[in-house]
Amino acid sequence: MSIRPQKPAPATPAPGKLPITELAEMKARRQPIVMVTAYDAPGGRLADQAGADLILVGDSAAMTVLGHESTVPATLDEMLMLTRAVTRGARRPLVVGDMPFGTFQVSDEDAMRNAIRFVKEAGADAVKLEGAGPMLSRVASIVGAGIPVMGHIGLTPQSATMLGGFKAQGRSAEKALRLLADARALEAVGCFSLVLEAVPAAVAARITAELSIPTIGIGAGADCDGQVLVWHDLLGLYEGRTARFVKRYADVADVIRAALEAYAADVREHRFPEEQHTYAMPEEELALFEQAASDQREYADDRP
Ligand code: KIV
Repeated sequence: MSIRPQKPAPATPAPGKLPITELAEMKARRQPIVMVTAYDAPGGRLADQAGADLILVGDSAAMTVLGHESTVPATLDEMLMLTRAVTRGARRPLVVGDMPFGTFQVSDEDAMRNAIRFVKEAGADAVKLEGAGPMLSRVASIVGAGIPVMGHIGLTPQSATMLGGFKAQGRSAEKALRLLADARALEAVGCFSLVLEAVPAAVAARITAELSIPTIGIGAGADCDGQVLVWHDLLGLYEGRTARFVKRYADVADVIRAALEAYAADVREHRFPEEQHTYAMPEEELALFEQAASDQREYADDRP
């Protein structure tokens, strides 16, 4: 079966929203594209204020937010709720909803139906899905419904077991050629962008040079058109083991822990709340209240 790319129906972007066509222009200008994950409204707002171009509501949420050991258990309802929260916080960046495992593998129709939910119910601007091969027709059908799709190849965490674990991909000539072929195929079926995860920098550079759509790297070197990092990794909020490609820009977990310890100590030592944290009431109302409360108490005490 030949899978032909279909032109998405023109959607009207929200005012102030980065036009999706700008991403290809950024690639052409060699202007790096900034993508970061986020999972809630404050995260969406902060990423927007920091000037991110793309926000990915990644199924990494299963690990970073929901405490699972892998991304596989993330459900569609969970991802829709998180995506909805991010779209309430973010204005300019394009918000990409990550399709969780099981929501696009079964059939083209199922994939299209679930992608539509991301747009209609969660306000996503685009969706991302992992893989190529049988997933090409999924991409084509979602794009055909007018929804922009970001591809994702290399280390695809939803199929980490098949890949032999969380490890770099495309490290032999044969496997690198497979990645290049997958990248070309995903561009051909209409992806607007492609995540390359844990791929040798030289392979990612070659793929980036060949494609006209922007590549977004994570552990794929400096020659990708853009970069993505996971919120909890870059902020120092994820306390599990992180991959070698993670750069930590802050130790927010330490800040949060210290604040919580200070709060707990204040409560235990009666230092919080103080006068300024409480509400007063007019003296005469207080006197009336005290009198009425005492009267009620006496009445209750006198009852047999
Ligand atoms: O789920 C996620 O956060 C991702 C990024 C690592 C690309 O897929």
